[in-house]
Amino acid sequence: SQIKDVQFVKSSGRAKDCPRDERPEFAVLGRSNVGKSSLINALVKKKEVALTSKKPGKTQMINHFLVNKSWYIVDLPGYGFAKAPDAARTDWSSFTKGYFLHRETLVAVLLLIDASVPPQKIDLDCASWLERNKIPITFVFTKSDKMKGGKGTRPDENIRNFQQLIRQNYRHHPPWIMTSSVTGLGRDDLLLHMSQLRNY
Ligand code: GTP
Ligand code: MG
Repeated sequence: SQIKDVQFVKSSGRAKDCPRDERPEFAVLGRSNVGKSSLINALVKKKEVALTSKKPGKTQMINHFLVNKSWYIVDLPGYGFAKAPDAARTDWSSFTKGYFLHRETLVAVLLLIDASVPPQKIDLDCASWLERNKIPITFVFTKSDKMKGGKGTRPDENIRNFQQLIRQNYRHHPPWIMTSSVTGLGRDDLLLHMSQLRNY
């Protein structure tokens, strides 16, 4: 699971504009600002292959990155960001859903969950939508380095509470990994996990 090479391929506005080869791909999904673009940079050990920002709503298109010339990792716009002006707000329902429903080469969705906050309904709803549509997920808990915060918002507790809600509400219990794009925690485990999924 070594990364030797990564190339930005293209930004697409619709599923039908995405690259049309047979290479397997992983989509990175989650709330705005959860750290999707940062996770991609951490995985490939490049600072700004995917563009990041402190302000939510940075990523607005379906962005394909080709890794080792053999598989794709896809950076997506975030959901749950209602404060942007209309023009900058991503309507997740209209175009990202199309991507998930029609992308035959999709191996799994890395569904990013912010470990520094308690479980959010919108993340549970998203997991539920993916499950209903039989799209495999791996939960990736981000920002696990953020140990500060008030009572009840410690990453380990937040993750435990989230897992418990998943066990109560969903038939399947997807695999999960705890990460930090700051410390690199979970990077090697996640790459290994993805290589195992690709080789099924
Ligand atoms: P959108 O493209 O707007 O949907 O956001 P995104 O999910 O791509 O988030 P992005 O990677 O741009 O990161 C948002 C902010 O969170 C940036 O300020 C990052 O530096 C910060 N961040 C991302 N990952 C981590 C992490 O693991 N730990 C900490 N402490 N901060 C992180
Ligand atoms: Mg982004």
